[in-house]
Amino acid sequence: MTSRIIIFDTTLRDGEQSPGMSMNLEEKLLVADALDAMGVDVIEAGFAQASEGDFQAVRAIAERTRNAVVCSLARAKPGDIERAAEALKPARQPRIHTFISTSDIHLQYQFRLTREQVLEIIRDTVTLARRFTDNVEWSAMDATRSDRDYLCKAVETAIKAGAATVNIPDTVGYATPADYGALIAYLKNNVPGIDKAVISVHCQNDLGLATANSLAGVLAGARQVECTINGIGERAGNASLEEVVMALKVRKDLFGLETGIDTTHIMRASKLVQSITGAMVQVNKAIVGANAFAHESGIHQDGILKNALTYEIMTPESVGLSRNNLVLGKHSGRHAFREKLSEIGIQIGDNGFEEVFHRFKALADRKKDIYDEDIYALLDMESAKSDAIQLESLHITCGTLGPQTAMLALRVDGEVRRVTMEGNGPVDAVFKAIAALVPHEARLKLYQVNAITMDTDAQAEVTVRLETPEGRIVNGHGANIDTLAASALAYINALSKLKMLESSRKIHLTEAR
Ligand code: KIV
Repeated sequence: MTSRIIIFDTTLRDGEQSPGMSMNLEEKLLVADALDAMGVDVIEAGFAQASEGDFQAVRAIAERTRNAVVCSLARAKPGDIERAAEALKPARQPRIHTFISTSDIHLQYQFRLTREQVLEIIRDTVTLARRFTDNVEWSAMDATRSDRDYLCKAVETAIKAGAATVNIPDTVGYATPADYGALIAYLKNNVPGIDKAVISVHCQNDLGLATANSLAGVLAGARQVECTINGIGERAGNASLEEVVMALKVRKDLFGLETGIDTTHIMRASKLVQSITGAMVQVNKAIVGANAFAHESGIHQDGILKNALTYEIMTPESVGLSRNNLVLGKHSGRHAFREKLSEIGIQIGDNGFEEVFHRFKALADRKKDIYDEDIYALLDMESAKSDAIQLESLHITCGTLGPQTAMLALRVDGEVRRVTMEGNGPVDAVFKAIAALVPHEARLKLYQVNAITMDTDAQAEVTVRLETPEGRIVNGHGANIDTLAASALAYINALSKLKMLESSRKIHLTEAR
């Protein structure tokens, strides 16, 4: 058995499928590039049949991805499989991932199919997918609540029809490590031909056991792990990529296995997904939480100062954090800034570097200490430079004497528009002013403020989520040392994305005529 674990990332499919986490095309491409650069083996880019947007995203990711296999999900339906194959045409290494349930609960109440009918569907759909690519993955949805011997038959059928990977999802997050490991071992020992396929694990986190279950599956012989950055995904999420990968790396003595992940990219990928989705990880989240490498108690600090090994099982550098987080300030020059970028695993070309360096200097003029998190925020705001709506100026009057007023100027498609509005508090005044200059029908679903670092001069990072009357969701982001300016930036970033969505819809409608 090989000692290499295949890391299958489903941030863009299972992750994106969770409430409020939808990403636009540009955001999906940023995530896909980050996954490819970090060494993910398979990127599940979406579910091509789900919508025109999903189809375009899978296609665009297939076109640009250099190293990873690019995969599209497809239900066990010919139309889905054909659509996935079409979207994956430009991929250097395409994979079609098709699935159907195997548990009696699902067969009886959801699909209204007999066990025999499902076996036939598996045979037909895997055979059809194989007409488009040799790289076909088949998943047994709700595998952990399926009858074991029937599951064995279903897996055997998929392998006989040509599936190269068989995935055993714990769809409802019901398993525990001991019984999930035992299930994988049972399949290994009882499915004829199982050695012809890679066994994959896909664990949901409803009981907080997704990472533990995935690792138990690996110990029992699985060689692919499906996971997401920050563990995002349906309901309580999926196994988190950073936890699985670092557990395999830190406990190599126990697992004796390797992944192809460059773990120094982990922090950057985590910050990117947090900033795009607005789903901030808790401070004590393993590996990527703000406190994951913070040592507060005196005894621990004493030990760390004497030798980091006393209380650290992995170094911050190994996940892309610099140990000395507080280094840059207004006197730091190009050399120090470049060093810092490379220390936190970021490569930028010369033109891009000059641009970011100037923005770093502007920030350092207003903020004494520049932390790694500030640099991540600077980079994440780069894409907003091309937004159709730009903030020209904002002046706020606020405080206990009232009224709270926002004097705002925006540049919308090149034209400057101005307004002054009062509100119930300064944020309300700013948002009313923006809505007056850019009227729209979307509803505000989330307004979230997060201090990027800990000082009183910290930058605020704001997420604004808007929902259109048709139910489409966009997330806007803004970061600024002034919380109200960050709020305005986040709101206009979301509105710019809405404008983009509208114009791409118009293009599709015109094309369809
Ligand atoms: O949780 C699940 O069962 C899935 C499959 C489609 C792999 O997401």
